[in-house]
Amino acid sequence: MQGKTPEQSRTIMTDMVLPGETNPLNNLFGGELLARMDRAASISARRHSRRIVVTASVNHVAFNRAVPLGSVVTVEAKVSRAFKTSMEVFIDVWIEDRESGNKTKANEAIYTFVAVDETGRPTTVPEVTPQTDLEKERFDAALRRKQLSLLLAGKIKPNDATELKALFM
Ligand SMILES: CC(C)(COP(=O)(O)OP(=O)(O)OC[C@H]1O[C@@H](n2cnc3c(N)ncnc32)[C@H](O)[C@@H]1OP(=O)(O)O)[C@@H](O)C(=O)NCCC(=O)NCCS
Repeated sequence: MQGKTPEQSRTIMTDMVLPGETNPLNNLFGGELLARMDRAASISARRHSRRIVVTASVNHVAFNRAVPLGSVVTVEAKVSRAFKTSMEVFIDVWIEDRESGNKTKANEAIYTFVAVDETGRPTTVPEVTPQTDLEKERFDAALRRKQLSLLLAGKIKPNDATELKALFM
């Protein structure tokens, strides 16, 4: 199976924050942003694998900045690394300034998707070939994040988390 670049799975979704999607402070409700990120990441994983994909895990979410009502929000997702059947998808969230049009990074998240066949059984995916320095950095750290996620889910034992252990040696 031929490898693909993160650019080939790049997915961009731009939308506004409307009334009904906000919390009592008139900022975007966290669950709404999670759903937008899940949708963009799912399309990205599908573009990479050309398979049915399911969300296996939300590995990391940082709501660093509130997103006010009326903001134009861009969610950008790319597959940062693929393993056998799973893919790590990195999501960057940007807010666009109305007057200047400049985009500021507001939040980020990392999701894991698994490619499955029509019966829901995991199936293999192409490798990722990172190109830019940022893509290489995210690719290199992805195995550590996968091991942490599996460890927290009770799916591997601490001794098997070799990449994580190496951090503390
Ligand atoms: C995700 C799912 C397909 C995994 O099935 P499974 O029987 O656990 O399959 P496996 O143990 O072979 O795992 C498949 C891959 O997922 C990875 N994986 C499973 N759980 C994971 C987790 N919590 N974090 C990171 N990776 C995980 C495994 O490491 C494996 O990756 P690899 O093949 O690239 O090495 C299955 O649990 C499922 O269908 N879950 C429901 C998905 C869903 O409905 N999502 C929407 C939520 S509403």
